[in-house]
Amino acid sequence: MIDILPSILSADFAHLADEIRTVEEAGATMLHVDVMDGHFVPNITIGPPVIECIRKATSLPLDVHLMITEPERYLRSFIDAGADSISVQVESTVHLDRAIQYIKNEDRNAGVVLNPATPLTMVEEVLENVDHVLIMSVNPGFGGQKFIEYSLDKIARLKEMIEEAELDCRIEVDGGIDSGNLREVLEAGAEMIVVGSHIFHAEDPAEALRELFRIARQFEGESSVGSTARFES
Ligand code: DX5
Ligand code: ZN
Repeated sequence: MIDILPSILSADFAHLADEIRTVEEAGATMLHVDVMDGHFVPNITIGPPVIECIRKATSLPLDVHLMITEPERYLRSFIDAGADSISVQVESTVHLDRAIQYIKNEDRNAGVVLNPATPLTMVEEVLENVDHVLIMSVNPGFGGQKFIEYSLDKIARLKEMIEEAELDCRIEVDGGIDSGNLREVLEAGAEMIVVGSHIFHAEDPAEALRELFRIARQFEGESSVGSTARFES
């Protein structure tokens, strides 16, 4: 099942609860929350207190993307604030395995994130311990950037690695996705699709999200027909 995760980074923070309600009513099944520290990335966003407020404003699962150095120092706070899923950038810690174990021991979903230039080999050893791998398709730090094309090949190679090892690990992709390139991102093998500015900067955010879901459902329909046909022949 494909999830489209609205990234609140591009929402109007002065009306965050309304913005979240809009995407929730339009069918969002998860929210993506970007945490930046002005150190790992050149931008500062929000921390645990805001996530605690978001937690009270919605029942949607919160997928927290940490773009901070030494994330292990703050995992406890993000879990207490209400994160359902925490993704850690592999470049941000020398103790990636420890961070993953910490998140899993707290019964939260654990993800690892790769910057565009970071090779897939960086997650090879931990692939069986994580719920998802997030492929950054822009350099993290800002919404509204252009999709980096070579991410498609990287997603496809990750998909092969996961299938070969028969793992239950989903591929998430984040950055520069809109209704024009969603299809190729899905074809490459991603299942959790983060979309920020294309939804929240649209004239009608609910309709922008519904359109993305239509593309995803059509893709799912076609792929299941394809797999049945392969099974029958
Ligand atoms: C970028 C963030 C993204 C961002 C994506 O560093 O991780 O989640 O919100 O925004 P768009 O969809 O506008 O590229
Ligand atoms: Zn993100």
